[in-house]
Amino acid sequence: MYYSKLKPFPPNFLWGASTSAYQVEGAYKEDGKGLSVQDLHLLNEHKMDFRDASDFYHHYKKDILMMKELGLKAYRFSISWSRVLPTGKGDLNKKGIEFYDKVVDLLIENQIEPVVTLYHFDLPLKIEKDGGWFNRQTINDFENYARILFEHFKGRVRYWLTINEQNAMVNHPGAVYPQGLTMPSKKELYQQSHNMFVAAAKVTKLCHELLPDAKIGPAPNITAIYPQSCNPEDVIAADNWETIRCWTYLDVAVYGKYNSLAWSYMKEKGIAPQIYPGDMDIIKNNKPDFIGVNYYATATVAQSHNDGTDVSARAGDQQVMLGEEGVYRSAENNYIKETEYGWKIDPVGLRTTLRRVYSRYNLPLLITENGIGAKDQLMNGQVKDDYRISYFKDHFYQAQLALTDGVELIGYCPWSFIDLVSTHQGFDKRYGFVYVDKNHDNRRIKKDSFYWYKDVIKSNGSKLKGS
Ligand code: BG6
Repeated sequence: MYYSKLKPFPPNFLWGASTSAYQVEGAYKEDGKGLSVQDLHLLNEHKMDFRDASDFYHHYKKDILMMKELGLKAYRFSISWSRVLPTGKGDLNKKGIEFYDKVVDLLIENQIEPVVTLYHFDLPLKIEKDGGWFNRQTINDFENYARILFEHFKGRVRYWLTINEQNAMVNHPGAVYPQGLTMPSKKELYQQSHNMFVAAAKVTKLCHELLPDAKIGPAPNITAIYPQSCNPEDVIAADNWETIRCWTYLDVAVYGKYNSLAWSYMKEKGIAPQIYPGDMDIIKNNKPDFIGVNYYATATVAQSHNDGTDVSARAGDQQVMLGEEGVYRSAENNYIKETEYGWKIDPVGLRTTLRRVYSRYNLPLLITENGIGAKDQLMNGQVKDDYRISYFKDHFYQAQLALTDGVELIGYCPWSFIDLVSTHQGFDKRYGFVYVDKNHDNRRIKKDSFYWYKDVIKSNGSKLKGS
């Protein structure tokens, strides 16, 4: 639909930027921090090393001042569970929580709204070794950890995210199961996921009880799935995968029930989780206040052949669809360009995704991640990332169109504020507005996109146009 005039971004729009603890902090065993599953990632050819990361732990003051210079209204980051509680339970690590005190206070002092994710892929190692999310005790441990944070940050943190990309952890468990840990079966993953639903609902309840002024929601990886053609069988395949990959997670969180198609799929595959008495009541009665949407790229799929060839050989990550036997096959889409890492660049798909999410759930939406990973080059002290500027220009414009369509979009937090360790490609693949020079003591360099984004925020998005 075309509009003669676009709706302006609201005056309190949360122009932000995102990161997660293990991808930026470093200091992986400093000041009493316990190990998380991410600390088992070994240094490999991609320089995948979370032990040092972007060394935000030692640079946070300068980094937050750069956020201020950028004009950020919000900073979405995660708290490392094992920095606060080294084994995931038991005694509080005072120095660990003090670090987040300093971060939160400095953000507030600079009028930047902290948006805090409780858990972003970094389960404390001790908890993982005791059974991880498969063990129902982890639900209680997560609730206790959340209680500590809610009580501690009462009045300071108003936006909370429960679990980052629960769906990616089910569909692409490699990112959270480094070498040395046993990869769960698919059935176990679906049980883990069910336990996470219960944990998120309990924490949502707690947040509403302890912090009546705060808002809390999930942050799944959501994307519209296109059928390869108007062949009705391709349409069914797209519906299959969109439901199984995306709606299952939000339907449980928002409606308090499993999507019937997703349930039929889980039954057919023998992976339906065990539901314990009281689980669905807890979930149904504790709905999120908003939905965090991590959007990177759409995917295009075709009908399943169901002959043993539906799964493609190509290595997959959270945006590369592999296909699933009897469900869908991955397909090409010649209308859409892609990044050097094979992720589609589809700004219009962002509009479609936001419209679909909003019309299904009618809750305010916050874009909690979106961005382009690239092999940025530092030359003569500068990073000329015009491709990132063009990417965001187009995506912001489509977000404005979605706003005009009537979507209640409250903010946009690109991934990422600063370069960080990518979950699959380490420091080869960079996302930030700020470059981290790994060869010179992690020094920071503002990229061209930093200055461009600064103007966008300053003008509240009023000068945007699609390219
Ligand atoms: C999201 C995750 O799936 O995608 C982030 O929440 C991740 O942690 C981001 O970094 C980009 O993915 P990648 O694999 O390029 O780091």
